[in-house]
Amino acid sequence: MTNPFSIERLPPEAAFCNRHRELADFERYAADNLKVVLFSPRRYGKTSLLLRVGDTLSRKGFVCAYADFSTVATVRGVASEIMRGLFTALHRRESLLEKGKRYLRSLTTFRPVVKLSETGYKLTVAPDSDLDEMSLFRRTIEELAEFLASHDLRCCFILDEFQEITRLRESAELEGILRSHIQGVPASFFFLGSRRSVLLAMFNEKKRPFFKLARNEELAPLPEAEIITFLRERFKQAGKRIPTALCRRIARLSRGHAYYMQYLAQELFYLSGEEATQEELERALASVLDKERYGFAAVVQGLPLQQLRLLKALAMSPEAKPTGAGFIARAGMAGSTILDALHKLIEQDIVEKDQAGLYRVVDPLFDRWLAGEG
Ligand SMILES: Nc1ncnc2c1ncn2[C@@H]1O[C@H](COP(=O)(O)OP(=O)(O)OP(=O)(O)O)[C@@H](O)[C@H]1O
Ligand SMILES: [Mg+2]
Repeated sequence: MTNPFSIERLPPEAAFCNRHRELADFERYAADNLKVVLFSPRRYGKTSLLLRVGDTLSRKGFVCAYADFSTVATVRGVASEIMRGLFTALHRRESLLEKGKRYLRSLTTFRPVVKLSETGYKLTVAPDSDLDEMSLFRRTIEELAEFLASHDLRCCFILDEFQEITRLRESAELEGILRSHIQGVPASFFFLGSRRSVLLAMFNEKKRPFFKLARNEELAPLPEAEIITFLRERFKQAGKRIPTALCRRIARLSRGHAYYMQYLAQELFYLSGEEATQEELERALASVLDKERYGFAAVVQGLPLQQLRLLKALAMSPEAKPTGAGFIARAGMAGSTILDALHKLIEQDIVEKDQAGLYRVVDPLFDRWLAGEG
């Protein structure tokens, strides 16, 4: 029996849990040329969701460019990733080797390189100018804005892990150039990111070029009822059964976190016979924790001692207020040290304030692992 669950980024045709409202909203935003910041903790499903939106829009005639900045290391790299995304989307619409060639007349800083492969083609870009990096970037964005204004195309840009451009020394200048050309351009832009504090600071701090450029949209966890329906259907379609109580437990263990929901279900599916049992789910949980522990250990190893102490104390006393006397005594740390460490953990997106106003470890299984390690 093929396992119906996957922890890979989901292609648009894969089974998808919920997100009906987001899919409809984002389609409308694209049609209205809005600029949107979409943020959430890691692995909530931002990329999978926007790839789906992009796919629907492409079918409706939009040019949907997807660029990923997660590994970008130079100014030239930022420009080339944007153009790779745009050329790929244009090529999908009209071959850049044939009729689509006309688009290239006004986009001169990079040229597309199309390599045929057994599975189709791979499109990369090569710089077509000897300008220095910053001039090349400026020229690329100027041309892009002119292109969007002068062509009657409906364009949508999905810029994934966008906050990573702030790692570049020249980031403020890049942000300034992007802002001046993106504002008012007839195209929609979706800025995605999982380092929330960095991404939100870019768009919500008064002195930053992107201040108030885009509307903030937070991707929520998956609702429990939707997870239950999704899991039951996936099990059923693949020829197995799962009791509702187990679906509910997966929803609660994962706290609506899409990746962990898939991961736990995938493990459970492997372990179970015709009908999944509670005992198998406990084994699935242990197995997922075991596989993830290297990543958890790496986070822990990168933390200064005070932050680690606080993190463990938070994992072990989820209901407590870190500024309360009991918590301070148990953690064995001074109040000011706790506040400083708390601030740093929030900045790194390791800890967050939940809806009830309590501080908790963002990653639900990391939280469990820390408490177990305590
Ligand atoms: N709507 C969904 N239904 C079912 N599974 C989902 C859904 N969205 C995401 N997933 C699962 O969650 C995993 C993470 O999704 P994705 O990579 O899109 O998240 P992300 O927020 O972009 O993560 P990152 O922060 O790592 O970039 C996917 O591999 C998939 O297994
Ligand atoms: Mg992503």
